[in-house]
Amino acid sequence: MHIPVLLKEILEHLSPKPGQNFIDATVGNGGHMAAILEKIAPNGKLLAIDRDPMSLTAAKFKVQSSKFKNNVIFVNSSFGDLQEIVSKEHFESIKGILFDFGMSSEQLENSGKGFSFQKDEIMDMRFDPRTPMTAEDIVNGYSEKELAEIFEKFGEESRAWSIARAIAESRRRKRIKTTLELTGIIEKVKRRFGRIHPATQIFQALRIEVNQELVEIERALAVLPEILAKGSRAAFISFHSLEDRIVKNWSRDFNKKNIIKNLTKKPIASSAEEVRVNPRSRSAKLRVIEKI
Ligand SMILES: C[S@@+](CC[C@H](N)C(=O)[O-])C[C@H]1O[C@@H](n2cnc3c(N)ncnc32)[C@H](O)[C@@H]1O
Repeated sequence: MHIPVLLKEILEHLSPKPGQNFIDATVGNGGHMAAILEKIAPNGKLLAIDRDPMSLTAAKFKVQSSKFKNNVIFVNSSFGDLQEIVSKEHFESIKGILFDFGMSSEQLENSGKGFSFQKDEIMDMRFDPRTPMTAEDIVNGYSEKELAEIFEKFGEESRAWSIARAIAESRRRKRIKTTLELTGIIEKVKRRFGRIHPATQIFQALRIEVNQELVEIERALAVLPEILAKGSRAAFISFHSLEDRIVKNWSRDFNKKNIIKNLTKKPIASSAEEVRVNPRSRSAKLRVIEKI
């Protein structure tokens, strides 16, 4: 089950009130959505976006039989297309927007798409089935150099080149098809140190490359100031340093240009109590900005 991260802090900083309009740019299983809907009811509207049709179905199911069913507009798209989505839906007077990056526990555990190195699944990793390339295409189709580069860039993996070489050698004999085949190759090159599984960073890198995740964040940030009205807020929950760095640099630059005000000079982390109940929140960092 997916537990929404930093929920109390999101409600504090976005401060949704009756009649206001919000965007949940990564609605997932609808944990944050449900809490925002409670606050904006009875007349506020929520534009709920997700790239993954299965997540969107789960969120829809959640509101279908509730009193909030007419308060939500669902859109199966990437938040990279934010400007087009907002204008197509004629969604106006936006008081706040939430980005909860990455994947949900549901996707990790039950999607069957190969996000987890602990399950033997096909290597798909596409949030949106319309995305052209799967993780299997990348693992078997990219050159050794291209693989090493994405492992370095999107996984910050220190053994990137050795792992890329091991993959290239292995696929010469037989196409690499499943997550456990890939994990086995990585484990031959890299031993486990401490709590972190040796395949963690490679799986992160593949997921980012398949979904062009960082590009999509940059596309959304580029149009955000035009979408938000004066006094509106945006909240960003990141789960690794690559996501957080993009938001941090963008906030700093736009703060300097007096376009936004950076409300979190230091990111907000989950409380010890939250980490105890939901270990996934351990790496979460929240940044909030306000349009000026
Ligand atoms: C961490 S989960 C969100 C969980 C949600 N806040 C909740 O409480 O249930 C992240 C979601 O973002 C979606 N996602 C990832 N990249 C996206 C993108 N570029 N555009 C829209 N949704 C995206 C994923 O499919 C996933 O459902």
